[in-house]
Amino acid sequence: MRGHLGVLSRQLSTIKAGRLARNGWICHSCRTGQVRRKLFSSSAALRDAKEKPYYVTTPIFYVNASPHVGHLYSMLIADVLKRWQVLKGRPAILSTGTDEHGMKVQRAAELQDVPPKALCDANAETFKDLARKANISNDHFIRTTDPEHRDAVEYFWTGLRDSGYIYETKHEGWYCVSDETYYPDNAVEKRVSPVTGKTFMASVETGNAVEWTEERNYHFRLTAFRDRLLKFYAESPGWIVPSNRFAEVVSWVQNNLEDLSISRPVSRLDWGIPVPDDSSQTIYVWVDALINYITVAGYPVWPPGDEHTKGWPADVHIVGKDIVRFHSVYWPALLMALDLPLPKRILSHGHWLMSRQKMSKSVGNVVNPFFAIDRWGVDTMRYFLIYNGAMAHDSDYSNEFIVDRYKKGLQRGLGNLLNRITRPKNWKVAEIVSSMSSKQSEPLPEVVDIHRGELERLVGKVEGHMEELNPSGALREIMKLVFETNRFIQEASPWAKTDEDDAAAVEQIVFYAAESLRLVGILLQPFIPEKANEFLDRLGVSHDRRTIQYAVLHADDSYGTPMITLGEGAHSSLFPPIPVED
Ligand code: MSP
Repeated sequence: MRGHLGVLSRQLSTIKAGRLARNGWICHSCRTGQVRRKLFSSSAALRDAKEKPYYVTTPIFYVNASPHVGHLYSMLIADVLKRWQVLKGRPAILSTGTDEHGMKVQRAAELQDVPPKALCDANAETFKDLARKANISNDHFIRTTDPEHRDAVEYFWTGLRDSGYIYETKHEGWYCVSDETYYPDNAVEKRVSPVTGKTFMASVETGNAVEWTEERNYHFRLTAFRDRLLKFYAESPGWIVPSNRFAEVVSWVQNNLEDLSISRPVSRLDWGIPVPDDSSQTIYVWVDALINYITVAGYPVWPPGDEHTKGWPADVHIVGKDIVRFHSVYWPALLMALDLPLPKRILSHGHWLMSRQKMSKSVGNVVNPFFAIDRWGVDTMRYFLIYNGAMAHDSDYSNEFIVDRYKKGLQRGLGNLLNRITRPKNWKVAEIVSSMSSKQSEPLPEVVDIHRGELERLVGKVEGHMEELNPSGALREIMKLVFETNRFIQEASPWAKTDEDDAAAVEQIVFYAAESLRLVGILLQPFIPEKANEFLDRLGVSHDRRTIQYAVLHADDSYGTPMITLGEGAHSSLFPPIPVED
């Protein structure tokens, strides 16, 4: 590798002068006189920070079709991870966006008889809407048709070419447009279409149709990175979560690695970024797409020493299990070729299934996330998807499961507990909280003491799951405490204690139940932000006391007066009965 960063720093003055150039190549925006649009929408505090922000990404979504619940799931995991960092007080950025080039989008546009850019514009808006509706706190929404991205891709390509990692050759093989990937002979098989009865060649892994292609194109010397990749994997335990996916990747690199075809003749694919200095070829959509993660972080305008301030290297790339190889083999090898830092972790999640089949546009069994959010509410969907979703295996989607989770967890668990503590007339939470602040070291009856112990361990356990990139485990841990507190309060029955002598006991029981609510409310914010906020409003926790430092027993001695009117009857609850199921 020939000091890519060195080249970059030498070119910094050119960059500062507003032109981006490398070995005679001048950036597309400079050539066309387009003004570079501002990609960075982060707050002023973030822009000025020298500390590297936590940086989490979702895959960028193909715009050939509308989003479905599987896409929402990728966004949601990223959002929970980001919000968790913010809760801990660390600057964090989340990037999502759309993957707009390639055969798949080109064909979708042809089929609909619309210009590809028009299709992209319309569908990118739908994905943006989904992020808004689902309360995804993304700082960036990148589109691969953005001029900044085109500059980054051209610059990256020129770097690869200058480093000698690209060569031209004839390529023969099976290409799958749906998966935007080549498959070797041993990964395809004959299948019969259930619809037409005709036979076709398909990928064994995904079942999607493949077509034979013979063409001249550019290749990336992926095989030159075999040893470096294997060494990196060996030295980076936990780099891919979960571990079963990591093992598959290592074995794949050991046994299947081939050089990668990274362009297509423009006669086949013209919807993409042309290869710099060879307009007869278009850059392979996956190379184009992966670079989005560094475009967002400012590449290639990385002032030496400050490369990290916009986030790179990413702390975690969230990916579905079907795209692990692209992120954990191709992407690190491409970065290694330019001596750029590698992402810190890859989190692969399972798929959502309908009737045991992957939810996907091509199968036609997708759930429209807009309808689902309208029907169940945004936080019910967030709760369900995170609770039931998994990393190491697939999960079943059904309306029954959503209703079940809502009733058991949110209504009977969380809502019920909140009502039991905040509504009774025989005590006032604010008075108890204030009175108990001076009695922290008083001995407690065994049943209260056991519960207090559980509470003390809660944050550590949740933090442990989040460190392991297991938001479902974290949410289950929080809910376990909710169920446990309901049992505790049932057993201790403070409402049954009417005797004057029992006053101290009532105080202790209600206090530790209220502390459970307060801690749970704080910890739930990344998962169900709207409901957690309302929950804390009802409990009267002031807004500046909702960060993780306050998720400690006795950390707040002035809550308990509701900030909103609690109202009467089931419909005034935080989790009202759901509309009649049809
Ligand atoms: N454009 C590529 C990603 C490029 S990232 C540099 C792509 N796009 S996609 O729209 O097909 O898929 C985006 C994400 O949605 C992937 O992580 C994929 O795994 C996820 N899902 C697609 N169907 C899914 C389910 N049924 N369930 C869960 N996630 C699923 O791949």
